[in-house]
Amino acid sequence: MTLWLIVPAAGRGTRMQADRPKQYLSLEGRSVLARTLERLHLAFPEAVLRLCLDPEDVHFDPDEVPFARWQRVDGGGERADSVRRGLTSLAEEAADDDWVLVHDAARPCVPLADLTALREALEDEAIGALLAAPAADTMKRADARGRVSHTEPRDGLWHALTPQAFRFDLLRQALDAALATGASITDEASAIEAMGLAPRLIHGSRDNLKITRPEDLAMASRILTLQRAGIDIANDTPSDQEIEA
Ligand code: C5P
Repeated sequence: MTLWLIVPAAGRGTRMQADRPKQYLSLEGRSVLARTLERLHLAFPEAVLRLCLDPEDVHFDPDEVPFARWQRVDGGGERADSVRRGLTSLAEEAADDDWVLVHDAARPCVPLADLTALREALEDEAIGALLAAPAADTMKRADARGRVSHTEPRDGLWHALTPQAFRFDLLRQALDAALATGASITDEASAIEAMGLAPRLIHGSRDNLKITRPEDLAMASRILTLQRAGIDIANDTPSDQEIEA
């Protein structure tokens, strides 16, 4: 069974206010994209990659792709469109029940142990799974004036991270259905949920941050340093067994 990887990297990252998309900013001397691909390759060296890039991308360097089998795919207007195009590109080769892992190019710090845990979870999984981290802060709902309307109960709230892994045909159907409704789909799991299915939450570390704002690059650099020293800064959350209980 082939393991497919889709890495959406076609965003323009305007929130970074930088001279280039965030996946091409330098993180400890290499691009964010290169670091992300390096992590994925360490965990899944045999996977086949589809890399979704802006057709007008002038920063991409194919030498930064460590996978033996990979293809560049034109991204779309939104992240979900990019992922959908990635899926289309493997339609000729993928079996319906092959696993497809989708991981944001902007998450270079995903711990190897989390990638391994996700993959192990798929061994006895029918629907699919995603890395996620329990919400740690008290959650406020804002009103239209920017004041607190009320406090949301935090119990059972999770931050959805990536990778997210689903069977090829199910994910294709789910994204098609979701995109057809015009709903804003910011991750694969929400498309699956809209089909009435319940993806499995796999506890992941909060240091799997998505680089979004300028200050995130310095944070990512600190996380990489701590990871090299073997320190998990966010290992304060329950085990998988506790989640399943
Ligand atoms: O903008 P955001 O941080 O949500 O993007 C998440 C990931 O999706 C990034 O890796 C970005 O490059 C990718 N993306 C994409 N196509 C788009 C928009 C975002 O591949 N149209």
